[in-house]
Amino acid sequence: MRQQIAAANWKMNLTYQQGEELLDKILKENISLGEHQQAVFAVPFPYLSMAHQKLSGKKNYATSAQNCYDQKAGAFTGEVSAEMLKSINIRYCVLGHSERREYFHESNQSLATRVKLCLDNGITPIFCCGETLSIREVGAQEGYVETQLMESLFHFSEEDIRKIVIAYEPIWAIGTGKTATVEQAQEMHAHIRAIIAKKYDQNAADSISILYGGSVKANNAKELFSSPDVDGGLVGGASLVAADFIAIIRALK
Ligand code: 13P
Repeated sequence: MRQQIAAANWKMNLTYQQGEELLDKILKENISLGEHQQAVFAVPFPYLSMAHQKLSGKKNYATSAQNCYDQKAGAFTGEVSAEMLKSINIRYCVLGHSERREYFHESNQSLATRVKLCLDNGITPIFCCGETLSIREVGAQEGYVETQLMESLFHFSEEDIRKIVIAYEPIWAIGTGKTATVEQAQEMHAHIRAIIAKKYDQNAADSISILYGGSVKANNAKELFSSPDVDGGLVGGASLVAADFIAIIRALK
């Protein structure tokens, strides 16, 4: 079975102490995860070592960065490289979140480089894609997401593509409380899987975890995750509340 993943994206929220407290509360639940289940916490850079220390002894719990830069090293003040993440044993990195694409102008090409640097350093990219409301309103979402995947991912080998986690996050559903319906999520996830199968093969498509993100909550996670092509979620707001994220981890298939 594909990996089913509940991924928290804290974004730029919580102090260090609040982050510690939140992780402690979640870990105190002792939720035992199956071989095919993962709980991943994408925390701000200054909290990575703390989170890693708390999570590393727990089976199938992992720490993620929220971004890394598209250069190996050098005079790029304020940036963080994939190699730096590797050096503190970080296993995942969110890339191409719509907030990064919008506010920091990250292009599909720059993201392709970031994905490569992560893979070179043994870090699993959680690659985000998803359309705006205006694109959905004219029914152009499938082509839009296909272009994002084509320009950032589809030049990788089959061996590499299998190492990537994809997160479909329709922008109109992020932080709005307006979740995609189960049908909308399933439809896009099946489409993403079909284009991977077309570009690579069905085996590769079947092995890649595709997460849904956009107003995943404690009360809708189970229904969303029950769709055959939805392999868990990338969760913003609800990941900041221990009880809510605990419920979301428990909702994994
Ligand atoms: P919300 O869960 O707050 O809608 O955020 C989703 C998201 O952007 C996760 O990366």
